[in-house]
Amino acid sequence: MSTPRTTVALPEMSQILPLVYGFTISQIAGTTARLGVADLVQESPKTAAELTAAVGADPNYFSQLLRAAVAVGMLTRDQEGRYTLTPVGRIFGTDSPWQAKVHDAWHTHPAVWQAFGALEDAVRQGRPAFEIVHNTSFFDYIDSNAELAALFHSTMSTNTHANNATIVTGYDFSHFTHIVDIGGGNGALLSAILNAHKHLHATLFDTTSGVHDAPTVLAAAGVTDRCEITTGDFRRSVPTGADAYLLKNVIHDWDDESCVTILRNCRNAMAPGGRIVVFGSVMPEQETADPADALSVAIQDVAIMAICSGSTRSIAEHEALFARAGLKLAEVTPLHHQFLFHAFEAVPV
Ligand SMILES: C[S@@+](CC[C@H](N)C(=O)[O-])C[C@H]1O[C@@H](n2cnc3c(N)ncnc32)[C@H](O)[C@@H]1O
Repeated sequence: MSTPRTTVALPEMSQILPLVYGFTISQIAGTTARLGVADLVQESPKTAAELTAAVGADPNYFSQLLRAAVAVGMLTRDQEGRYTLTPVGRIFGTDSPWQAKVHDAWHTHPAVWQAFGALEDAVRQGRPAFEIVHNTSFFDYIDSNAELAALFHSTMSTNTHANNATIVTGYDFSHFTHIVDIGGGNGALLSAILNAHKHLHATLFDTTSGVHDAPTVLAAAGVTDRCEITTGDFRRSVPTGADAYLLKNVIHDWDDESCVTILRNCRNAMAPGGRIVVFGSVMPEQETADPADALSVAIQDVAIMAICSGSTRSIAEHEALFARAGLKLAEVTPLHHQFLFHAFEAVPV
């Protein structure tokens, strides 16, 4: 005879759902946006019938999706049955500064979606999920996949737009003359810095695919004459002679050994009196962190684990990396509460 199970009270469904069905919630919002609903209702509120005609979807399935998009907080439905975006749902609109559509397109790309599905293997094997699924590192993969490279760089650029203001206003660039943005992508950050500091010259350094859109971005910002574009592999060498080496959201992509190599290359390349400035998130002490901050950083950290070999590091871990590269941590400046975004300045020992 089997022993009866002890009856335990179930937690509230509101606690259970995000843990078990979080992926469904992101698919409800993402599918609604991909079908064009966000753009359609952004123009003016629309009924289900109007949306069905515009989207060309199955009316029954589509009305279920719309109902779910209301339930997850992306849309509202008024008394006349017209749908519109909620304040948070507006991130899916084309005029939002933080482009949820770009992030959604990136996460649902088959190569990335599959990688997230291999997270258990990643944790068991201690290897990035992307590498397990595709047999190559993420950055090597996008070197020969222009579509995924473009999606990745657009996603990074959306993040950069969100952070630019805090970097430009929160960090003092006035005492530099020549800055290099290592892994600087399409040059969005350098554009913002150069526009705020007319005395500065800059070098943008990234892979060939990374700088693909840089000429357009720099030209649109009117800073082409003060910014050189250089390509290469920062694990081999970086441009020499600058007095500040910026690394924004770069160190977190790499394992400790690679980080030490990249930091050492910057250290060896810099002009006398130069410094390295790492911009990125800091992993908070689990026990004392604000739960919302801890969650956003943890999600970012696990997303990195799915794609690359890095992690979001604590202040002490940054300090240890700098020490191994012959650098000492000179200053840590909190820049933005979101993702606990900080500037870490390091100088040669
Ligand atoms: C997470 S993205 C950050 C981009 C940009 N700094 C930002 O914050 O938006 C990492 C960047 O490192 C670049 N990268 C990756 N491997 C590289 C390598 N071996 N040498 C130079 N750049 C590399 C990528 O192309 C990408 O632009």
